[in-house]
Amino acid sequence: MKIAILSRLPHCYSTERLVQTARERKHEVHVLNYNQCYMQLNPSKPSIFYQGKELPTFDAVIPRIGASSTFYGCSVLRQFEAMGTYTINSSLAITRSRDKLRALQLLTRKGLGLPTTVFSHSSHDIKNLIKLAGGTPIIVKLLQGTQGVGVMLIEKEREAKSIIEAFYQLKASFLIQEYIKEANGADIRCFIVGDKVVASMRRQAKAGEFRSNLHQGGHADMVKISKKERETAILAAKVMGLKVAGVDMLRSSRGPLIMEVNSSPGLEGIETITEKDIACEIIKYIEKHAKSTPPHKKIEA
Ligand SMILES: Nc1ncnc2c1ncn2[C@@H]1O[C@H](COP(=O)(O)OP(=O)(O)OP(=O)(O)O)[C@@H](O)[C@H]1O
Ligand SMILES: [Mg+2]
Repeated sequence: MKIAILSRLPHCYSTERLVQTARERKHEVHVLNYNQCYMQLNPSKPSIFYQGKELPTFDAVIPRIGASSTFYGCSVLRQFEAMGTYTINSSLAITRSRDKLRALQLLTRKGLGLPTTVFSHSSHDIKNLIKLAGGTPIIVKLLQGTQGVGVMLIEKEREAKSIIEAFYQLKASFLIQEYIKEANGADIRCFIVGDKVVASMRRQAKAGEFRSNLHQGGHADMVKISKKERETAILAAKVMGLKVAGVDMLRSSRGPLIMEVNSSPGLEGIETITEKDIACEIIKYIEKHAKSTPPHKKIEA
């Protein structure tokens, strides 16, 4: 098959592993920086150009679109879809999961657990917003944050009120969330390919920290997940329409609670810790589905 990997980072671990595995399995693979792709919208022959040349037809694309490039990356991916190219994650599914509020709304509609989350456009009733999130301590999360930056644990109501007020003043987008204390600074990452959890790991925050992100000094190890956690992760990816996903969950006294469903989960940490060949799972999934998916189904999530 002829496979395109849409990535801005040809030399990052995840991209290199996908390239290497696809080649080992005798596929032709090209890494395309989607930010350098441009397109001609044309009902009879939609096309994409790259480095001055029109791109040939690919059998499959693997989108690895960075959070800061969702808009343009998904536009390029939509053009591949318009050309009838199979994509392992559709532009629609990626767009759904990237909007954290929309994603959480979709998950609750399917009855999946998540920390109680409060969102408001106006600063009129901050006291009640805090109450609706279960009262202090609460978590305040900037929507554009990543790697733990912009996630705050606020212990006292007075502080919560003034921080939230300041964020409204700054016109920041943020969620207010119930603090899951019993998670003890740990979260679970389940890596989904198709409708299976192919690997999972637990990330634990360093002492005195509630955020488990490796960038905040956390560490990761292997974990055995429960049946309920497995089912929750699989359903969460399904609700988003993602075939490759990293589902992050907190272990709470009322069961697994989803924090996020990531559409371009990294391979390095989880392959290293679990010694699972996730790149191979992804390529094998494409081999099985790219050719057999009829064109009208290719653009569905
Ligand atoms: N409601 C919560 N209760 C307890 N701990 C939480 C809660 N929300 C987040 N955390 C902790 O903070 C960490 C960072 O939060 P989150 O994953 O939402 O943000 P991020 O990592 O900055 O964003 P992203 O995952 O989108 O890159 C989580 O991994 C988890 O350990
Ligand atoms: Mg996170």
